[in-house]
Amino acid sequence: MFLPRMITKDLYYVGVNDRKTRFFENYIPINDGVSYNSYLLMADKTCLFDTVEICFLKEFLANVQAVLNGRELDYLVIHHMEPDHCASIEEIVLRYPNVKIVANLQVFRMIEQFFGEDYKDRAHVIRENDILDLGNHHLKFISAIMVHWPEVMMSYDLDTKVLFSADAFGCFGALPGNIFKDEVDDPSFFSEARRYYSNIVGKYGVNVVNVYKKISTLDIKYICPLHSYIWRQDFDQIMSKYVKWATYQAEEKAVVIAYASMYGNTKQAAEVLASMLAEKGIKNIKVYDLSLTDETYIISEIFRASTLILASPTYNLGMYPKVESLLNAMVKLNVKNRVVGLIENGTWSPKSNSMVKEKLASLENITYLEPQISIKSSITEQNIEDLAHMATLVSELL
Ligand code: FEO
Repeated sequence: MFLPRMITKDLYYVGVNDRKTRFFENYIPINDGVSYNSYLLMADKTCLFDTVEICFLKEFLANVQAVLNGRELDYLVIHHMEPDHCASIEEIVLRYPNVKIVANLQVFRMIEQFFGEDYKDRAHVIRENDILDLGNHHLKFISAIMVHWPEVMMSYDLDTKVLFSADAFGCFGALPGNIFKDEVDDPSFFSEARRYYSNIVGKYGVNVVNVYKKISTLDIKYICPLHSYIWRQDFDQIMSKYVKWATYQAEEKAVVIAYASMYGNTKQAAEVLASMLAEKGIKNIKVYDLSLTDETYIISEIFRASTLILASPTYNLGMYPKVESLLNAMVKLNVKNRVVGLIENGTWSPKSNSMVKEKLASLENITYLEPQISIKSSITEQNIEDLAHMATLVSELL
């Protein structure tokens, strides 16, 4: 049983909701699930766009079958080969033996790697700017290398101005019945979209900018991503965020304090600083314990805020594991253009500030607040003065 979800008069949503998986890519928490979007265009030639994660095959096939309503499936377009979208290709071919697979050469290579099949008998190989003629619809293909894998392509329906954007403009969260972004007032959407973007695609800002340049010239009426809502208005809301995220510009002038603390002394420094900032009239200060808040949320906050304060104990003369992991993620994701304030603690040899700076040395345009603060076991009067000075510097920047 499936209730067809119409997008345009001949384009349907046939995706599924995953409300069971707790970790996207088996490490990113997704407490509200995720949708695997697939679309079926009932043109003169029928065309399915991508598939879904294999656990949801039965539901997906029911959706496709209901919309086809007895018609043949002529084409399957594969934009992206990550298995949350490609895993059901074999099953589609089994059920629709005349279907042609439309994709670039890299996709076909990956199909062979995943499934041991080259599908030469049904391959319709396309390159960027090629056009697939579906009769009353024509699809133009746009290369989207590294957004989020190297084979990724988008496609654009020249007749109805629909952009199939692959992973771009997606978000975590299962769809609540509503499939259009303008149907929901979801206060967590953009923070979750940022967490999705920053942790998954964040490394590839240059590639995202390149693709943005191509699609920003298109007349777009709908954006159909592979996860989350379909956009049919207010495109600038999400596009403007992507421009900021992809160019590593802070979304807001804001401060985030991330601390790690074994026995509460480093935490106390973070709390004192937060209070001093509040006393200076700074609003919306965010404070996170790195041992309690999943790193993917902190990364998202670093993409949002202009200033990061990192307070960290020295651990066995090295970095505290949670801090080291966050720094590794920042380096991996090429974070740039941030102000960073450092607070270290250590009982016999506090040295985490210098280790943090060394770790982040490859990142561009990171400005450190001076002086960095060094605590020996617990905060002193001098530390309080230094924290007050740091609070003044931060408040002058916001
Ligand atoms: Fe949603 Fe990169 O796969």
